[in-house]
Amino acid sequence: MEKLVITGGVPLKGNVDISGAKNSVLAILAGTLLVNGECRIENIPDISDVSVILSMIECFGAKIGRPDKHTIVVDAKDITYAVPDYELVRRIRGSYYLIGALLSRFRKAEIAMPGGCNFGSRPIDQHIKGFTALGAAVDDSRGVIKATAENLTGVSVYLDKVSVGATINIMLAACKAEGVTVIENAAREPHIVDMANFLNAMGANIKGAGTNRVKIKGVTDMKGGTYQIIPDQIEAGTFMIAAAATGGDVLIRNVIPKHMESLTAKLIEAGAKVTELDDAIRVEGTGKLKATNVQTMPYPGFPTDLQPQMVALLTVAEGLSVMVEGVWDNRFQYTDELIRMGAKINAAGKMATIQSVPTLYGAPVKATDLRGGAAVVIAGLMAEGTTEVSNITLIDRGYEKFEEKLRALGAKIERVEE
Ligand code: EPU
Repeated sequence: MEKLVITGGVPLKGNVDISGAKNSVLAILAGTLLVNGECRIENIPDISDVSVILSMIECFGAKIGRPDKHTIVVDAKDITYAVPDYELVRRIRGSYYLIGALLSRFRKAEIAMPGGCNFGSRPIDQHIKGFTALGAAVDDSRGVIKATAENLTGVSVYLDKVSVGATINIMLAACKAEGVTVIENAAREPHIVDMANFLNAMGANIKGAGTNRVKIKGVTDMKGGTYQIIPDQIEAGTFMIAAAATGGDVLIRNVIPKHMESLTAKLIEAGAKVTELDDAIRVEGTGKLKATNVQTMPYPGFPTDLQPQMVALLTVAEGLSVMVEGVWDNRFQYTDELIRMGAKINAAGKMATIQSVPTLYGAPVKATDLRGGAAVVIAGLMAEGTTEVSNITLIDRGYEKFEEKLRALGAKIERVEE
């Protein structure tokens, strides 16, 4: 087992390049199963979740090439139906995209209940609502989701809850359905737009992605092509927060500044200087950080996946901050780790109050989940003394070369065997 050892107190300085979006790549790789030809996907992040979804795609007999670390070529022309391994499916949340993809390609799918980070209950009723509306019969009564359809027919589906996963999964199932499907109250996250752009580049006909009304006109065939994944909004945000939290000066390159607007606004409120450039953002510390209230929401609101990192910053932002988690029921487990480092946080249900302390102190802590792991690393960078972060395979799920990128910015951080 490996851990990260961080000696805090060094302001981050320099340039960092952001990798391709984790939450796009999982959906896009599942989407290659719809395509009757070769898909070349560029700007792939080198993270462990990608290996997991690739192993699943291989089990259908897809041909996979990796001309370089950041490019994957998938040819799913001759795939055959299979049931992916239960243990693999349980490792990541994104495996649920195989249901939409397999339904589209084979009119049947059998997938174990997907895993992923534990934020309380993570129902998939809205995915099932969409598949059923399209004409599939779905049974999820035995820990496995089984879906079958004679035909998939375009329909209007209203999502009772704004869901990234359900929006993408219904898009997948509807791409080759007969007629037009409309998703009302759709999620608008950048990776929804990315997924629609990928599917369109491969031959689908999707309009309105990025608004709350997505229209998918079924096509008979998708032939393949080349597509480049967008930069990771959450990785970019993590580095922006780390720069502000350490009072540093970092140019975060290969980002889409529009995707960062909610965070930019909050960092400015908290006292950092943020400058937007064409495809980069510069974040500078300006001395003292100030308390700020934040509520997470679906895009374009403040992303839930940046909530833990922002709370790490707020631990030393002068005054009392309130963080309201508006997406997940239980996303404050990591706060116990920050409390070990001296933070004063009171988390109950969907709200946490954070009373500032003058400094955090290094301590042995663990990553409780992917973004909670990023939060304790940021806390370690801010803290006096040495922090040891264990359970870092959770961080490796979603951050490419996290400690190497931080080290290049001057951080004292090492990966060592426990
Ligand atoms: N929900 C339902 N029913 C559903 C689906 C969702 O009630 O059928 C609820 C959830 O319980 C939650 C809310 O709707 O309260 C939003 O869930 P959503 O479906 O949008 O989340 P997801 O698609 O399962 C993705 C990301 C998460 C990110 C959320 C929200 C992937 C693989 N995961 O999850 O990313 O937190 O959207 O933006 O794309 C992460 O990267 O660390 C991560 C957890």
